Amino acid sequence: MALNITFRQLRVFESAARHLSYTMAASELHLSQPAVSMQIKQLEETLGLPLFEQIGKKMHLTAAGNEIRQYSHSISQLVDEMETVTSTLKGGKGGRLAISVATTASHFATRLLASFAQLHPDVTISLDITNRESLCQQLQNNEPDLVIMGQAKENADVIADSFMQNPLVMIATPGHTLASQSAIPIKQFEDERFVVREAGSGTRAAIERFFIAAGVSFHTGMEMTSNEAIKQAVEAGLGLGIVSRHTIGLELRTGNLISLDVQGFPIMRDWYVVHRKGKRLSPVAKKFREFVLSEAEKLA
Ligand code: PGA
Repeated sequence: MALNITFRQLRVFESAARHLSYTMAASELHLSQPAVSMQIKQLEETLGLPLFEQIGKKMHLTAAGNEIRQYSHSISQLVDEMETVTSTLKGGKGGRLAISVATTASHFATRLLASFAQLHPDVTISLDITNRESLCQQLQNNEPDLVIMGQAKENADVIADSFMQNPLVMIATPGHTLASQSAIPIKQFEDERFVVREAGSGTRAAIERFFIAAGVSFHTGMEMTSNEAIKQAVEAGLGLGIVSRHTIGLELRTGNLISLDVQGFPIMRDWYVVHRKGKRLSPVAKKFREFVLSEAEKLA
């Protein structure tokens, strides 16, 4: 049985499934919203199965939608790969680069991409910024070309190379009572309520591992998905925070925040450039990977 599915329908569906929104798919693909819903309706009719369902205000994929998403994603990727390969064969320099980075890495990754884009002005770059948990999911789905994140999960099927250290520091306002103390024992923070990142963040997981290893209980006061928000909360006196030093260069220079001298700190982590094992990196993805490994430390 030959299904009359068009590539355009799959592209539209893939985008709508990724955003769980017809409106966002329409804006991504520069189509009108009715055009998006028409393409998806035709696809559903051809398949004879509904792909989305609306529960309350939220769109969800049906079981069939989830299955079809895997296929449409792989097909879209193959077509992208084909475009890149043909453009390289034709001697063109262009190509697409899909990079996903950890929220915390975005503080230097944008600079990295800007320098890379200057060297390769014909490359179309897309950047997704999200937390560690969702990066692991993206890698599993083979979505991005490359990911910049902390250490990948132990049994993850990935190639990961470290390129720079990522020290996590405890931050406070300059007037904090512990500001002038040195080698503060971690035990002293047993009753502290920290302003920290959400569960699912690599920074958060590293902090929890550190406290467990030190045998000190860890309490969260407020959880935030943005490092900027944590800095502002600490500056506003809502508590102590723990963040990557890569996120607080400016505040340390202006003296708006200080990093406390706590025993065992900074918590040392590493940044990695990661891709799925077996992935055929496009020429431009290979170039970007080399660029990160050789230039990131200088640029950050
Ligand atoms: P995060 O990323 O922004 O999720 O904390 C850092 C990491 O992966 O270590």
